[in-house]
Amino acid sequence: MSLKDKIESVRNQFLADIESFPTAQQEIEDLRVTYLGRKGQVASLFSEMGSLSSEERPKAGQWLNQLKTELAKQFESKVDEMDQGSSSHDPFLDPTLPGITPPLGSIHPLERTLQEIKDIFTSIGFHIAYGPEIDDDYHNFSALNFPEHHPARDMQDTFFVSPDTVLRTHTSNVQIHLMENEDPPIRHIVPGRVYRNEAISFKSYCLFHQVEGIYVDKNVSFGELKGVLEYFVRQMFGPKVKMRFRPSFFPFTEPSAEVDIWSTERNQWLEILGCGMVDPAVFENVGYDSSIWHGYAFGMGVERIAMLKYKIDDIRHFYQGDVRFLEQFK
Ligand code: PHE
Repeated sequence: MSLKDKIESVRNQFLADIESFPTAQQEIEDLRVTYLGRKGQVASLFSEMGSLSSEERPKAGQWLNQLKTELAKQFESKVDEMDQGSSSHDPFLDPTLPGITPPLGSIHPLERTLQEIKDIFTSIGFHIAYGPEIDDDYHNFSALNFPEHHPARDMQDTFFVSPDTVLRTHTSNVQIHLMENEDPPIRHIVPGRVYRNEAISFKSYCLFHQVEGIYVDKNVSFGELKGVLEYFVRQMFGPKVKMRFRPSFFPFTEPSAEVDIWSTERNQWLEILGCGMVDPAVFENVGYDSSIWHGYAFGMGVERIAMLKYKIDDIRHFYQGDVRFLEQFK
């Protein structure tokens, strides 16, 4: 048999062997040694070149090198194929399958609640206003008729930035800013963050959100205040919710009340807002004539409302950024 025929027969034998699909790494390695090893088939063909004439030798060398690279390539692709598992043999690729959707965030439950509150009040004619979170004692306390030694000024409740500057403890400071800057009638809601130096627990946190409301005009009555807040509560919690107005006290309203909502989960009343008729002393402080102008104000806790509406049992959930909590509000 000529060398050329021998090369052909090694090639055919190899193709048959590799076609029989060696599946284990070891089987492929054995096959590689048989053909391409130092004492393998190809090497032994190379050693036969010595018996060729010098004219035949270059051509034979070329054939053998070709064979060698061809086999090496085949081994390589066989190993690749095995690395990819059986998928390369899968004849069925479905291009209509949906792709992999990237994870989508969700609107924070507080933001969502704030949005609902704003929608309800703007739909009945309130404008939205904002005011400073860092404010002076005057706007947060004095102008709101807090006496000099009222406990709300205590270090316990208030974060002081300097002896005269505080992180606002409520959004009521913006009542004063609004009335200082605008003549009546005014009708605004004021969403915003407030801060209190309280022990952190399931029901209180060092910061939370309020929405203030203030309406000043001629002939404003407590009945109107009740009507507006009842409308709000029914829009927010549905027509069947149980609510009550309970007499209360705030330095800047007279008379004052708080609104409670019945929680069926906890079987108790929960306070969601404070309200009342603007105290004449506050009007004096901003230069409104209290014999002409009357008004009402209210301030609600957004976390409280969100907790009741979405049945959340711990205020701290709002501030921990835990995806397992947040993704329930998609
Ligand atoms: N500022 C009061 C609070 O934080 C709420 C309130 C606002 C009460 C307006 C009456 C009028 O508790």
